[in-house]
Amino acid sequence: MSNFPIENKRKADHPIHSVFTDRWSPRSFSNDAITEDELLTILEAARWAPSSFNAQPWRFAYALRGDSLFQPLAESMNAANQQWAPKAAALVAVTSFKLSMPPGAQALVPNGAHTFDTGAAWACLAIQATFSGWYSHAMGGIDFEKASAAINLPNDHQLHALVAIGKRGDPSVLPDALRERESPNPRKPIRELAVRGKFL
Ligand SMILES: Cc1cc2nc3c(=O)[nH]c(=O)nc-3n(C[C@H](O)[C@H](O)[C@H](O)COP(=O)(O)O)c2cc1C
Repeated sequence: MSNFPIENKRKADHPIHSVFTDRWSPRSFSNDAITEDELLTILEAARWAPSSFNAQPWRFAYALRGDSLFQPLAESMNAANQQWAPKAAALVAVTSFKLSMPPGAQALVPNGAHTFDTGAAWACLAIQATFSGWYSHAMGGIDFEKASAAINLPNDHQLHALVAIGKRGDPSVLPDALRERESPNPRKPIRELAVRGKFL
């Protein structure tokens, strides 16, 4: 999957598909370009996410490296993210439509589930990217006003994050602080995350 193999020490405590531990968020991207069809396959998986009343509130605005939108999105990133993310093959703005028309409603009403559902869609995107041999890395470290202006975000939409997508490249070109963090990170124990019954 990469010319720069990395040791993945992640070990699930319960049996799961390896895609969940194989997916991680690198910062060293190669020069490989992504085709629009390849990116649409990744977004297609997001399209099939579950959502409240099947409202499908997720909306994506994307730029392939070289597109006119790519640079303004890169410039909306904070300084830390600008060190690595502009090398990605594509940038995807993950947004959601805040209104929906549930069954029986006569007009659009606020959709209380738009953020939850769009989170599910982003997770599907990330997992499909792994299945397709790509890496994805979400970023909340952006100037939301700048990024929203760059994509002409409608008022009834919310921008959640930018996602960098690319192939893994040479980690040795990363600044020291980022290179040290360039490996799959662990998770909290399941017993810290899930209780049988009530929370204490
Ligand atoms: C909404 C969101 C915002 C994030 N923002 C940033 C960011 O601004 N910069 C960054 O380097 N990583 C960012 N990350 C990546 C997380 O740090 C990373 O997903 C987390 O440490 C788990 O690591 P993994 O994805 O490699 O499993 C973000 C992830 C999410 C989901």
